[in-house]
Amino acid sequence: MSKLSHAQWSSKMAFILAATGSAVGLGNIWRFSYMVGDSGGAAFVLIYLACVALVGLPILVAEWLIGRRGQKNPINSMLDLARQSGRLPAWALVGVSGVLGAFLILSFYSVIGGWSLFYTLGSVTGKFTGMDSEGVGAIFSGLLGNATALTLWHTAFMALVIFIVARGVTKGLEGAVKTLMPALVILMVVLVIYGMTTGHFGEAMAFMFSPDWSAINGEVVLAAMGQAFFTLSLGMGIMLAYGSYLGEDVSLISTARTVIILDTAIALLAGMAIFPIVFANGLSPGEGPGLIFVTLPLAFGNMAWGTLLGLAFFLLLTFAALTSAISLLEPTVELLEERTKLSRVAATLVAGVAVWVLGIAALMSFNVWDEFLILGLNVFDFLDTLTSKFMLPLTGLGAILFVAWRLDRDSVINELGLSAGQAQVWQVVSRVVAPIGVVVVFVYGLV
Ligand code: PFF
Ligand code: NA
Repeated sequence: MSKLSHAQWSSKMAFILAATGSAVGLGNIWRFSYMVGDSGGAAFVLIYLACVALVGLPILVAEWLIGRRGQKNPINSMLDLARQSGRLPAWALVGVSGVLGAFLILSFYSVIGGWSLFYTLGSVTGKFTGMDSEGVGAIFSGLLGNATALTLWHTAFMALVIFIVARGVTKGLEGAVKTLMPALVILMVVLVIYGMTTGHFGEAMAFMFSPDWSAINGEVVLAAMGQAFFTLSLGMGIMLAYGSYLGEDVSLISTARTVIILDTAIALLAGMAIFPIVFANGLSPGEGPGLIFVTLPLAFGNMAWGTLLGLAFFLLLTFAALTSAISLLEPTVELLEERTKLSRVAATLVAGVAVWVLGIAALMSFNVWDEFLILGLNVFDFLDTLTSKFMLPLTGLGAILFVAWRLDRDSVINELGLSAGQAQVWQVVSRVVAPIGVVVVFVYGLV
């Protein structure tokens, strides 16, 4: 008896760790902070929180439910469930677009992972010690302008991802997530405390939490929704795939709540650490993708124990990026393994090299190809926009619509363990609120 409950607890724990490892990554620290800065602060933050709660949570639950019932890769899980419940096989497109989205995201995610590696090694050599904001800015723009250096760091990052995925070392990773994630949180708290000493903490808090509602427009809402999907790893087959390893005993809703709270807490802490530094140094919050790479080295370069803390921070950031990147490569590898004759190692190499090539196109948007635009966007921004604003929301929408409208209602409510009253709330949220939210934002984005 005690053995059984222990085993259940540890599998649930392992699952939470894997899902959290995928969710917590560059999206929480790099992307969240620069999106907040770009989109004018608190209005974005509050809409983002609403998106996470009203849209993110039900879609996360829906993706896990599909995965757990399907027990296969995202495409085949969707296909099987659609057939079993007498629905069109076209629902499998949800899986197809998820796998494709993950592939595209990894190409630019790896470029940023490369930046994180560069800053890790820069911290080792004390590159940022005593630097002012101009010096730090110059290091960053020097990196961006140098296509060879960017390629090198991107290659190093992708090589790590390929190596880990090829060996299939998920066990070791779970253990690492368990120790490194708390370390990341502690370092974020140290940074927030440092932010309090800059004298600009109040300004930063107002920027993040006291909204100027007039700043809200369709763009901001679309960006907030895109960030909610990105940060929770939704709409890309990953949570579908992870759901397929789930035991029957795991409560989907409470687990989703845990993962979402962790992910959101880390993002908010990142903002509370970064914006005081931005204001204290007269930097612009709308700096764009470089925001954390100019603010944090500045803080570390000027605080006690800064070299050591900076090294620890960028190492942890790189690690968080790696655990997410691994989950991004997995769907493509799985697909190649099942649909072709390739071995796991060969499939990983093929997928990894393809991602690597696309990543090089993405990194050249910062230098040699900065004039090359697709629909007015450089390759990097195009990939980011296409995935986070279009593919992820549409794929997530497919998943929630399928669960809410196409699966047997009573069995879903039973599986989620809902009382009659809760079932009603679930029904309204999953059938109406979340889908309409996605559609409205999406259509807004188109026009
Ligand atoms: N959720 C990750 C982050 O916030 O960094 C990024 C990510 C990982 C997105 C895995 C999508 C994904 F499937
Ligand atoms: Na995240």
